[in-house]
Amino acid sequence: MINHNKEFEGKSVVVTGAAAGMGLKITEGFLEKGAVVVAVDINETALKNLEENLREKYGSEIIGRLICYQGDVSKQDVNENMINKAIEKAGKIDILVNNAGIAGHSEAIADTTNDDWDRIIDVNLKGPMFAIREAVTKMISQPKGGNIVTIASVAGIKGCRSSVAYGVAKHGLVGLCEHTAYAYMHEGIRCNIVCPGAIRTGMSSNPELENEFGRARILSGMDSDLPIGTTDDIANAVLYLASDNAKFINGATLVVDGGVSCN
Ligand SMILES: NC(=O)c1ccc[n+]([C@@H]2O[C@H](COP(=O)([O-])OP(=O)(O)OC[C@H]3O[C@@H](n4cnc5c(N)ncnc54)[C@H](O)[C@@H]3O)[C@@H](O)[C@H]2O)c1
Repeated sequence: MINHNKEFEGKSVVVTGAAAGMGLKITEGFLEKGAVVVAVDINETALKNLEENLREKYGSEIIGRLICYQGDVSKQDVNENMINKAIEKAGKIDILVNNAGIAGHSEAIADTTNDDWDRIIDVNLKGPMFAIREAVTKMISQPKGGNIVTIASVAGIKGCRSSVAYGVAKHGLVGLCEHTAYAYMHEGIRCNIVCPGAIRTGMSSNPELENEFGRARILSGMDSDLPIGTTDDIANAVLYLASDNAKFINGATLVVDGGVSCN
C-alpha cells in the first residue's frame, strides 16, 4: 500500500546493503516517504531485482528517485562515489544509513584467521568509517547539516554474542558514531546507532553461519525461546532516528532486540 506521509520529500538518502534484509526495508521506507535514495549493494543481481520489484510496486511514484549503485563498501572509492551520487542527483546528502554488514562463522579468537578478521573489519567497520568521513565532509558545508544512522548489533554492546571480529567491528561502530555525534554536534550533524537483536533475514537464516561451538556460546545463558524481530522493526527505528522527531537525539544507541540483551 502506498504511504501518503511524505516526511522525507526533498531529502536525499544513501543506504548500503540495500538489496536484501533490513536494507531493503529501509530503502523502501524512505522511498515511500518521498526521498531520493541511492541504494548500494555488492550483489548486482539482488540490486537488479530490487529495482524491478520496487518499480513494479510503486510505478511512477518512484521515477527518478531510486538510484542503484553496485559496489563493495569495504572500498574507499565506493563510499565516496555513493555519497557523490546523492549529491549529483539532489544537490546534497541529507541522510546516510550504514547498514551493509557480513557475519563471521561465530569464531572465537583462537579460531580466527587473519583473512576472516580483515574481511569482517573491512566491510563492517572500515567501510562505514570511509562513508561517514565522506558524508561529514559534505554535510558540514550544507545549511541543514545531515543525519547518519548506522546499524551495529547487540554484538556491539555485549562482547560475547558473535564472532570476535564481528563483535569488535560492531563495538567499533558504536565508538565511531559517538565520536562523530560529539565532534559535529554544533554543525547540525546527528549520528546515531541502531543495535538489532535477532532479526529474520538472509544473514540470520544462513545455516552455514554458526559453527556448533559458536552457536552454543552465543546462546549460552539466554532463553531458549528468544524473540525474533522483523526487518520492519529495524526500518521503523532507522526512519525515526533520521526524522525531525528525533532532532535532539544524537550519539544514541537504540537497542531493538525485544529485551534480550537485558539479561
Ligand atoms: N539479521 C540479524 O539478526 C542482525 C542482527 C544484528 C545486526 N545485524 C546487522 O544488520 C545489518 C543488515 O543485516 P541483514 O540481516 O539485513 O543482512 P543480509 O545478509 O540479509 O543483507 C545484507 C545486504 O548487504 C549486502 N552486502 C554485504 N556485503 C556488502 C559489501 N561489502 N558491500 C555492499 N553490500 C554488501 C548484501 O549483498 C545484502 O544485500 C548488518 O550490518 C548486520 O550485521 C543483523
